[in-house]
Amino acid sequence: MEVKSYRDDIKAYKGKSISLMVYEGDTRPVGRLSKGLVNRVKKVLEVEDFKGKEGEILKVPTVGLSVNAVYLVGIGKKEKVSEDTYRRASANLIKRLKKDKVESTLVLTPRRGDLPEEITKALTEGAILGSYSFDKYKSKKEDRFEVKEVLIYRGEDKGIEKGRIFAEAQNYTRNLVNEPGNVINPVTLSEEAKRLAEEYGLECRIYDEKEIQEMGMMALYSVGKGSATPPRFIHLTYRPQGKAKERIAIVGKGLTFDSGGLNIKPGDYMRNMKMDKSGACAVLGIMKAVAQLKPQVEVHGIIAAAENMPDGNAYRPDDVIRAKNGKYIEIDNTDAEGRVTMADSLSYASELKPDKIIDMATLTGACMVALGEYTAGLFTNAPDFAEEIKEIAKRTGERVWELPMDDERLRKKIKNTVADVLNTGGRYGGAITAAMFLEEFVGEGIKWVHLDIAGPAWSKEDYAYYTKGGTGFGVRTCLEYIMKVGG
Ligand code: BES
Ligand code: MN
Ligand code: ZN
Repeated sequence: MEVKSYRDDIKAYKGKSISLMVYEGDTRPVGRLSKGLVNRVKKVLEVEDFKGKEGEILKVPTVGLSVNAVYLVGIGKKEKVSEDTYRRASANLIKRLKKDKVESTLVLTPRRGDLPEEITKALTEGAILGSYSFDKYKSKKEDRFEVKEVLIYRGEDKGIEKGRIFAEAQNYTRNLVNEPGNVINPVTLSEEAKRLAEEYGLECRIYDEKEIQEMGMMALYSVGKGSATPPRFIHLTYRPQGKAKERIAIVGKGLTFDSGGLNIKPGDYMRNMKMDKSGACAVLGIMKAVAQLKPQVEVHGIIAAAENMPDGNAYRPDDVIRAKNGKYIEIDNTDAEGRVTMADSLSYASELKPDKIIDMATLTGACMVALGEYTAGLFTNAPDFAEEIKEIAKRTGERVWELPMDDERLRKKIKNTVADVLNTGGRYGGAITAAMFLEEFVGEGIKWVHLDIAGPAWSKEDYAYYTKGGTGFGVRTCLEYIMKVGG
């Protein structure tokens, strides 16, 4: 799909359709179209019940006039419209054009004058995210249709360029998440990281199962040893030319499949556990975009990749394991494996002495119980850093909600062990005790935000810029932060 700015007269547009975004109860922008189109749209509006609520789309066929159709796209009440409203509306529009097999459109917003960069960017992202589908395993390719050209009326070119990079990174992440466990395992994931690094000129270090043990990453090694495919540790680096404003590590949970291990999941819960690598896939998407955006920030992408399987060699409840930072972990439940692998990835990241660590992990079902499936849990040791991420997340539309880390009685639940720390803290506050476990492996003085993306990493329904499957949640929020620091 091509997204471009259009600066000519609206009346001179020669594509297949014009799409007009309108506030609820205000169809006055229709007047900006040519006379023939205005008359046709007004007639249809007299008989159709179109209010302009968010999600409403009205198609007005205008065959015989300058375009074949005018689409009115509701974006809701003016005072409620945000950057993400435009992103969602743009995605909904593209989904509709795809369904109607309309090749091209000119998008107009109700705003006057040149569009600001953020809104142009949001419209671009919405269009590219909205056109996403994962159909490589459908043998019949006939009814595929792609919208070829989206023109944004008076769009800002930098916004289009950035929006394309952000959205393509997110779609890349979704593709990886959607790949099943028989295609993406720790080894093939590390090969993909290597390929990506070569394509975009990133530094890349992959550690195999032998090196993982030599480096003292016995936590990752233990989780991975019940699988026929060995674990891998992935470290990608982007270094800017000149002085970096900050050094940031992005750490992603990379369970290419989570069966639960010896504490095996019942079938219903095991389904879709190919998505347990969503954090890792987000890391790769972010590194891909960073290599193109070239911010003045040093960015490390870090993934401990493993498959959690039950086997004669699998790690077991009661095992005591030494993590890279020297702390001993007692295993209560092998299905709380994500935090065990991340003990090593967070220790490794901390040794790089970054200013900031953001980790993304499909860590706990408890987080979904607490916040619902559309909101990530946010946990931090640095309130000011968390505020920045929360502020950015409001703009990206990636919902986050902070949960507390100051309950010292709750913290004791992961201390009730023969070792330094236990890998579960019981049923109540399960997302928080998981975050407290991770905190044990974050180095002193490093500002850290943990996003528990168990819910929003995967969508069970088509919604706005999401389709069923991997969402690529977290990619745009992290990228916005990196660009805020060094863009
Ligand atoms: N990968 C799961 C968490 C998860 C659940 C992600 C549902 C996405 C959807 C994680 O490894 C896990 O199994 N967590 C357990 C922890 C428990 C054993 C303490 C959970 O949440 O039940
Ligand atoms: Mn698990
Ligand atoms: Zn898991």
